[in-house]
Amino acid sequence: MDKFIIKGPVQLKGEVNISGSKNSALPILFASLLIEELIEIKNIPKLKDIDITIKLFLNLGVKIKYGKSLIINANNLYTNFNLPKNLIQSIRASIWLISPLLVRLKKINISLPGGCSIGMRPIDLHIKNLQKLGANICIKNNCIIASIKKKFQGAHIIMEKKSVGATISIILAAIYARGITIIESAAKEPEIKDLINFLNTMGANIQGAGTNKIIIKGVLKLKGGIYSIMDDRIETGTFLIAAAISKGNILCKNTNPKNLRIILKKLKSSGAEIKTGKNWCSINMHNKRPKAVNIITGSYPNFPTDMQPQFTLLNCISLGKSIVKETIFENRFLYIHELIKMGAKIFIKNNEVFCNGVRSLYSAKIKATDLRASISLVLAGCIAKGTTIIDNINYIDRGYETIEKKLISLGAKIKRLKNKN
Ligand code: EPZ
Repeated sequence: MDKFIIKGPVQLKGEVNISGSKNSALPILFASLLIEELIEIKNIPKLKDIDITIKLFLNLGVKIKYGKSLIINANNLYTNFNLPKNLIQSIRASIWLISPLLVRLKKINISLPGGCSIGMRPIDLHIKNLQKLGANICIKNNCIIASIKKKFQGAHIIMEKKSVGATISIILAAIYARGITIIESAAKEPEIKDLINFLNTMGANIQGAGTNKIIIKGVLKLKGGIYSIMDDRIETGTFLIAAAISKGNILCKNTNPKNLRIILKKLKSSGAEIKTGKNWCSINMHNKRPKAVNIITGSYPNFPTDMQPQFTLLNCISLGKSIVKETIFENRFLYIHELIKMGAKIFIKNNEVFCNGVRSLYSAKIKATDLRASISLVLAGCIAKGTTIIDNINYIDRGYETIEKKLISLGAKIKRLKNKN
């Protein structure tokens, strides 16, 4: 795994262009397996998870041209495809192979998906709801063996728990289903709204985008077309935090502040001056130390779990005490021990982190543990006194496009040490 060498403390300021959203691009890519005509997807972020998805698609017989945009032709899928286990297990998003491949091929036998170390990442909500839509599914020797008769059958589904992934699996299965599918208590993250907009652009019949009740009327076929992925709200939030923790000021361009309401509210409570426009937002700390803010994560529109490590870092160096409560994933505090090595005064009790802000952190040799934790540790290195070395930083490449370039343009002193083997 590569390492980062980071010199601090620096103040992070300037302008940054926000990339397309990883968590919108991935479901939209898997949805494109339902379409037998040419589609062009724009604003796709250049990330490791996207590269892995493309490799999976090539193994399925999908024709792909990957330049400035991604041109996909999934009209001819191999029936006896071989999807390498290591590829499927390297990303959580591979769970979204099940619905489109059952729709197209009627039966599959693929390995269970992977994902970060932030929790068990069960798939029971995907399985039981696809069974309600008519799929026969069983899990044997870490593989998902599934089949459907001819088509999925529309059903009325009441989600027992908000799940972004399972909501997406159900939507993909219901697109061509016989009859109507209603999903109550559906997750309504902006990325799901973007997926629905993409599918409706290609001829699907889905109502309720952005609400907890989604109604899908099965159609016969989707057509080809062009679509541009929404901006990455978590990347935006991450760069806003970069300014907040370094008393700097940053303008994030090509981003929709409407998807960041709670993050902007919390940053204002910490003393930041926030300005927003139609497709930009900015933060200015006026060289002031932030004030600590309490955080409780939850499904949208509550505070996003993917911003939890970044705000915990903010609280580590803020004025005052604070509590960060994680309600979505059971193991999303692995990075806390790394921050303690840097002088943070924090401790974990059950699913809460208790922070007592210190004036500054100091450099250490640390290691990244998962995607969002990694970027928080990189930002910690930027404000810590001395030279911080972070190992295992390849996690970052899964979710942040050209991260060093963007951070260096904002004043970071960061160098990547490539691991030869
Ligand atoms: C998606 O993960 C995102 N990943 C995550 O982003 C994000 O943190 C998460 O949604 C929550 O918003 C992608 O979009 C690729 P869930 P997902 O199903 O779909 C439990 C990042 O850093 N659950 O909404 O896996 C689950 O354990 C990543 O970009 C079940 O119990 O999340 C969790 O406690 C991290 N059974 C809760 O539901 C299931 O079958 C929410 O998970 C599925 C989930």
